[in-house]
Amino acid sequence: MKYFLDSAKIEEIKEAYHTFGIDGVTTNPRHIMVSGKPFLTVIKELADWVKEEGIEGYDKFPISVEINPHLDDADMMYEEGKKIAAMSSNFVIKIPSTYAGIQAARRLEADGVRTNVTLVFSPAQAILPAKNGSLFVSPFIGWKEANGEDCREYIRNIVKIYENYGFKGKTQIICAAIRTPKQIADCAEAGADIVTTGLAVYQDSIKHAYTNQGLDTFRNAWDNTAAE
Ligand code: E4P
Repeated sequence: MKYFLDSAKIEEIKEAYHTFGIDGVTTNPRHIMVSGKPFLTVIKELADWVKEEGIEGYDKFPISVEINPHLDDADMMYEEGKKIAAMSSNFVIKIPSTYAGIQAARRLEADGVRTNVTLVFSPAQAILPAKNGSLFVSPFIGWKEANGEDCREYIRNIVKIYENYGFKGKTQIICAAIRTPKQIADCAEAGADIVTTGLAVYQDSIKHAYTNQGLDTFRNAWDNTAAE
């Protein structure tokens, strides 16, 4: 399973890439706002950075960039997607799962612009992006579980549907808005292709209270081992 960083902060992205080798990045309008920088500045920084690193191309290091969320006309969404995609071969155009969004994503894919259909909350919503050849589909996990849902069955359903019809791997399932290490493991168990979350959740996923306890035990033993 691939790990994407859900962030628009360039320093954080560099750290995650160099310290534990993230496989890609997802951004959204909220992440751009949190970065404190204008939209175009952020995406230009990302486009320059992949060149410096020698990881150009969506197949090497995909970066999802979301179109203006106010757009609800397929032609305008398509035009905006084309413009953003022209700025870097790493950019995958993130489009909401709406009637206009699905039309725009279908046209962009037909033109060779890769897309990520986002804001997906049901297995039914995940089907058309796959039929239309989108590179990614992003079912949101954390938003649902924050409202008391258990998403394990939801992810398994999407994986099963994709397997039934040969979509699995062609349209990759990004489990998005992951908030906890347990959600990462649930997505892996269900067969998701990718998870995307912030640096803190990946850092937490390495930790366990018993690991610390074990380390204390072994340090104590080390210090009390007979000298030569
Ligand atoms: C992923 O592609 C989404 O942008 C993301 O996971 C949404 O998460 P957020 O709720 O942390 O913004």
